[in-house]
Amino acid sequence: MNTTGDGPATRGNDGMLAIIGGSGLAGLTDLSDTRRRVVRTPYGDPSCALTFGRIGSTDIAFLARHGYGHTLAPHEINYRANIWALREVGVERIIAVATVGGIREDLGPGELIIPDQIIDYTHGRPATYFEGTDAAVVHADFTEPYDAGLRGLLLEAATRAGESVHDGGCYGCTQGPRLETAAEIRRMARDGCDLVGMTGMPEALLARELGLQYACIAVVANHAAGLGSSREQISMEGIRAVLDTAIGRVHGLLSAVCC
Ligand code: HPA
Repeated sequence: MNTTGDGPATRGNDGMLAIIGGSGLAGLTDLSDTRRRVVRTPYGDPSCALTFGRIGSTDIAFLARHGYGHTLAPHEINYRANIWALREVGVERIIAVATVGGIREDLGPGELIIPDQIIDYTHGRPATYFEGTDAAVVHADFTEPYDAGLRGLLLEAATRAGESVHDGGCYGCTQGPRLETAAEIRRMARDGCDLVGMTGMPEALLARELGLQYACIAVVANHAAGLGSSREQISMEGIRAVLDTAIGRVHGLLSAVCC
């Protein structure tokens, strides 16, 4: 059995940091000296051209997961092309920003979480680089789906920025694009999920397969279906209002990471 170290993961790079922006984060306000580059991959086109720039002294590559016009639904995103393109331009670390619904009681709208586990409920998404009859079978270790060092960097930056974040939580990734039923959320809670989103997988796994460090800032946009203020339905206006404020805090956290 091979491990990821024998796969396509190994390639020298300069350690650039990538930020993948989700809903509400189609750009980075603090990015200076920006330029864009279209990157093509063997897996097709990424969600958008990459934007390069600097925050403080850190070189950044930014990718808008849903495209700059937010036109790609979670199941339509070419995750393999996105992660491949980032690796191709020399990225070594990825901070993914993702909006989620809160399942755990203390994870209400506006809370920020640095998750430490994943349960994958998606289906039918191209989810690995390791396939095809001419390649040896590879089983990536995914016991800890997020990179411990990068999680630590985010937690430490949050402390420095005076930003309150939750250390750990299990991200349940659903297929979307519809939101969940109340019964599905009750089942996810029984499974041990603390938050629910639609884009965490296969993104995290593909980063692991290419040997890239990957961690996530999850932004709670709403109570998950059937819970709290979403007991009867999930309000899109409510989500927009929460994200307007919360995304500003994410910018602050990212700046603290980069200084
Ligand atoms: N479910 C799934 N994904 C989400 C949610 C949700 O309630 N809120 C934001 N992204």
